[in-house]
Amino acid sequence: MGLTITALADTHACTLGATVSGVKLGALNPADWRAIEQAFHEHALLVFPAQHLDDQQQLAFAQRFGEVEVLVEGKTTIAISNRGEQGQALREDSVFMQLLRGNEGWHTDSSYMSLAAKASVLSARVVPSAGGETEWADMRAAYEALDVDMRARLERLSAFHSLFYSQSRIGAVAKVGDYYGFNAGEAPRRALVKIHPETGRRALFIGRHACNIPGMDAAESEALLDGLMDFACRAPRIYRHHWQAGDIVVWDNRCLLHRARPYDYREPRVMMHTRIRGNPDTESALA
Ligand code: OGA
Ligand code: MN
Repeated sequence: MGLTITALADTHACTLGATVSGVKLGALNPADWRAIEQAFHEHALLVFPAQHLDDQQQLAFAQRFGEVEVLVEGKTTIAISNRGEQGQALREDSVFMQLLRGNEGWHTDSSYMSLAAKASVLSARVVPSAGGETEWADMRAAYEALDVDMRARLERLSAFHSLFYSQSRIGAVAKVGDYYGFNAGEAPRRALVKIHPETGRRALFIGRHACNIPGMDAAESEALLDGLMDFACRAPRIYRHHWQAGDIVVWDNRCLLHRARPYDYREPRVMMHTRIRGNPDTESALA
């Protein structure tokens, strides 16, 4: 059977995502790639069950979407895992475990960097016996569900995106050099309503890193952003993926939020992550 794209709207009654089957991502023909790219624009999240790609194949798939980000130590595909390279459990107070705890809050990748990400690819190598799912929330549908007055108000607003802010809210300290080339430069400012560069569709652009809306005091800004996130990240705008080892997913960071769900850290969880850079014309910070 050939390539089959099934909207999660049909199987899970949610506004985002599709499952793609009948294709080997390690050996895509041009027509299948065109169908996948079109489905990516339409559904924003694509789930490919049982692909079992190695790091090289995952990188090659990610590179179809654009130039990949260099993450830590010159690597473009890294383990998002509570285990170190020798399989040892990471200390709960280590920098990396604090970043994994941060991933359990709704966010969009690299929004605190000067160039926000276009997309991310994540695959499962080792999954815990319970928990450890990933969830995505559809910020296009969230924007469209807001009332007209709120949409008009948000159209004029922006927020800063700061990893110092988001980590401090979970009681952790982000330091320069800790993560993903994170640097000390001023936090980037981004519009709260993002127009998708391919589809033209508007989406809320928020998440745990967003803070300090210009023109508001810190408490008012935090209350507005927390309220928006609470409203946005609800059914039918959410999909939760229960991973099987070998699954691979790609999502559009320009219009979705995502988060990891908790699990018992005494069990290993190993996910492989590759991230696609944003377009400087559309994912740069505001001046
Ligand atoms: C990420 C991320 C979520 C997860 O890799 O950027 O947020 O479920 N991962 O591991
Ligand atoms: Mn992430």
